[in-house]
Amino acid sequence: MKTLIKNAVVVLPEGSVETSVLIEGTKIAAIDAAIQTTVDRTVDARGKHLIPGVIDDQVHFREPGLTHKEDLVHASRACAKGGVTSFLEMPNTVPNTVTVDVLHDKLKLAQSRSLVNYGFYIGATTENVGELRHARRTPGIKIFIGSSTGNLLVDEQAALETIFAETTLPICAHCEDESTVRQNAARYADSTDIADHSRVRDHRAAFIATQRAIDLAIRHQHPFHVLHVSTADEIDLIAAGGELITAEVCPHHLFFNVDDYASLGSLVKMNPSIKTKSDNEKLWQALLDGVITVIATDHAPHTLEEKQKPYPECPSGLPAVENSLALMLNLVRQDKCTLEQVVKWMSSEPARVWQIENKGRIEVGYDADLTLVDLSLTQTVLNDAQEAKCGWTPWHGTELTGWPVATWVMGHQVFRLENGQSQFDSAVLGKEIEYRH
Ligand code: DOR
Repeated sequence: MKTLIKNAVVVLPEGSVETSVLIEGTKIAAIDAAIQTTVDRTVDARGKHLIPGVIDDQVHFREPGLTHKEDLVHASRACAKGGVTSFLEMPNTVPNTVTVDVLHDKLKLAQSRSLVNYGFYIGATTENVGELRHARRTPGIKIFIGSSTGNLLVDEQAALETIFAETTLPICAHCEDESTVRQNAARYADSTDIADHSRVRDHRAAFIATQRAIDLAIRHQHPFHVLHVSTADEIDLIAAGGELITAEVCPHHLFFNVDDYASLGSLVKMNPSIKTKSDNEKLWQALLDGVITVIATDHAPHTLEEKQKPYPECPSGLPAVENSLALMLNLVRQDKCTLEQVVKWMSSEPARVWQIENKGRIEVGYDADLTLVDLSLTQTVLNDAQEAKCGWTPWHGTELTGWPVATWVMGHQVFRLENGQSQFDSAVLGKEIEYRH
């Protein structure tokens, strides 16, 4: 199958140019404004921008075991609609992804269920270093240095030292200090005020755990990625960490802060918690400065019924894969950043950090994972229109300008927006992501 995407402004590694892109099979075969060849399909993309598909390196898709909240079919459709062509999923499913066998079961499941490309982390426990050492076909190791949804936790120093010393895969971690959180939780034990979530999971908890993890990574010379940075305080630690240390920020930590509990309540209850307006601003500046280089969503759906339980029972997590790119394109439209920066944060950098083969850039020979965006299209985010199984979004009612309008995964068009309606084609499914490690 040959597809020619004509006349889009194409975001190439060396800059953006109006040109045409030829897809042949699963690959980008040519990039040339003057291509003359017989094709099966031509897409006239004049006036739109073609970018490498988004790679979301932190999602919780809940399958297996928690499929009343989310599953691979719904979540991967949400990805396709959101311009996300590849995802890396976290191990706190049921059973936890803490053995090579469970990891391989998950890969098999995704093969028949995911519309977009997929990869799965292996989770660390205090006892599974043997599994972590032998795991392949995974982007890396996830450590919950602080506990969150589920029962994964590695807080003991000796166990952390062993994991950093005896494994070679890249490591990422949820950094909130468990003992600080527990002490704070005891202090607010009687609280039913959702805003106390940010006092329990406070700035100190994030700082202490991130400092501890970076110290481990540097002493063991082990590549380490700080997941979902939530505080300004962590930025200097990351900057001082040098080349071994990378970090990401999530849309909810850029766009929401403690003032939003009043209107959104537990919908914005997340771990790490949302912090202050000043943290929003400094995290954004850290992206612009290149200290934080990745944007990922931490898409973590729960049903509305679960979220509406009173604090503190309401679970932490919110869905985001289908709106994350649009949230960033809206900032491009407002001149707060460039489309090239968005591509770097959401595609080329996640590909570099996780050593993903043949993705993250539009280049001949690379996988044809492509997202066409219309920077002038305005749409309102609506609960009813969400593909995520939970059927709600904290951005309900938000008007955004700049949306994905077509998505190709390994050369196959899986999504197009036609007269405002989402159209999906699941005749060909996504593929397992390959890594250079
Ligand atoms: O709020 C969160 N929820 N943070 C996480 O890191 C995990 C996630 C979940 O799985 O629900």
